[in-house]
Amino acid sequence: MNRREFLAAGAALAASPGFVILKIRPLKIAATRQALVGAGNPATAVWAYDGTVPGPELRFKQGERLAIAVENALGVPTTVHWHGIRLPNAMDGVPHLTQAPIAANGGRFLYEFDLPDAGTYWYHPHLGSPEQVGRGLYGALVVEESDPPAVDRDVVWVLSDWRLDRQAQAVEDFGSFMDSSHAGRIGNTVTVNGAIRESFAVRAGERVRLRLINASNARIYGLNFEGHEPWIVALDGQPVAPHWHGRVVLGPAMRADVVLDCSGAPGSRHRIVDDFYARRPYRLLDIEYSNEKPLRASFEPAPRLAPNTIPEPRLETAERHRIVFGGGMMGAMPSQREHRGLFWTVNGKPVPESDHRHAPVLTFHRNSSNIIELVNDTSWHHPIHLHGHVFRVVSRNGKPVMPRQLSDTVLLDPDSRAEIAFVADNPGDWMLHCHVLEHQATGMMAVVRVA
Ligand code: C2O
Ligand code: CU
Repeated sequence: MNRREFLAAGAALAASPGFVILKIRPLKIAATRQALVGAGNPATAVWAYDGTVPGPELRFKQGERLAIAVENALGVPTTVHWHGIRLPNAMDGVPHLTQAPIAANGGRFLYEFDLPDAGTYWYHPHLGSPEQVGRGLYGALVVEESDPPAVDRDVVWVLSDWRLDRQAQAVEDFGSFMDSSHAGRIGNTVTVNGAIRESFAVRAGERVRLRLINASNARIYGLNFEGHEPWIVALDGQPVAPHWHGRVVLGPAMRADVVLDCSGAPGSRHRIVDDFYARRPYRLLDIEYSNEKPLRASFEPAPRLAPNTIPEPRLETAERHRIVFGGGMMGAMPSQREHRGLFWTVNGKPVPESDHRHAPVLTFHRNSSNIIELVNDTSWHHPIHLHGHVFRVVSRNGKPVMPRQLSDTVLLDPDSRAEIAFVADNPGDWMLHCHVLEHQATGMMAVVRVA
């Protein structure tokens, strides 16, 4: 029996190369309802993986093989993209480019690949993303270190942003002109793990590893932990020297692992405030201490996580490339006569979401080192994501960045530029796009090829 027959038979096991028996985890995509707002409000109609928003927290050990059989019970086709994972191209979940869409009303697809890097990742659709992600399709994918640092708890927070009406239902203006040509669909309700939360309960003296994932279509977060100085220990899943910079900024799709040392007094409360949009700060939730006596009196500095084995680009001899992102309101928006509904450009060209098959904007030799200058020639923020690779951010606005942080998504400020460097070691056609999903769907995406 081959893999597909196994699936057809509904079997839960498949033989992988090397005859290791792999357990296949089913993952069903369907519409359901969930109490996002709570307190006497109606439940919200959502789209969900396995019946919950966010979808199930998938946890694996570094080096393990993931095998997930997706079944799509929605009335629209979809795919699943495994954001940040260096996987084989055919498993990347980009419709038409790497696979056929998973058909509506019962289509299936088996995703199966190794997990080379430890860290915090996530999964989401790559088709009709403004609506599919906006209705609740996303979940955490955690790859644990073989020797994880000692913490009392390891907790994931999936941050999502909703535009709800008075009946707590999603406003169905997905992909509106306003959102698409401006900052994207920024909503009016922020949830943590699928609900508005009043508080996060901790005990004094506890050390918590918080894995923050921004699964929002467009909202950028700037989180301030009042009374605390959490250590940032990883960004986009990749370890960084533990440090604290006052707030954690997360553009769409970005992740941060922080070590939160609960140094507050028993019984105290401290706010976490998001003030990224200076005129609209709000309280995300409170850190709420129990009255128990402290678990420990003081904290060691946060441990440094073991690095993943990402190939190191050779900067001196790297090939140089340049990609210019343009368009948007107050910018050089494509002519609506020629490109109806497309508002953004990559190197002057808008690419519709339905056309993943256009020619690559760049082609790299396999295993070559490359530097791409990403130029944001617009008045808006853009988190730019490259599939299949992890890159170093080497400069911003012409100034070297130190340390050169590893990422898969780099947040470009309005009218700014950044250079990213990476080894093109993963063959295939890969998306390079803005992760404001309304921008991606209206022109701000491209394909790059590793030959
Ligand atoms: Cu998180 Cu191209 O996606
Ligand atoms: Cu954008």
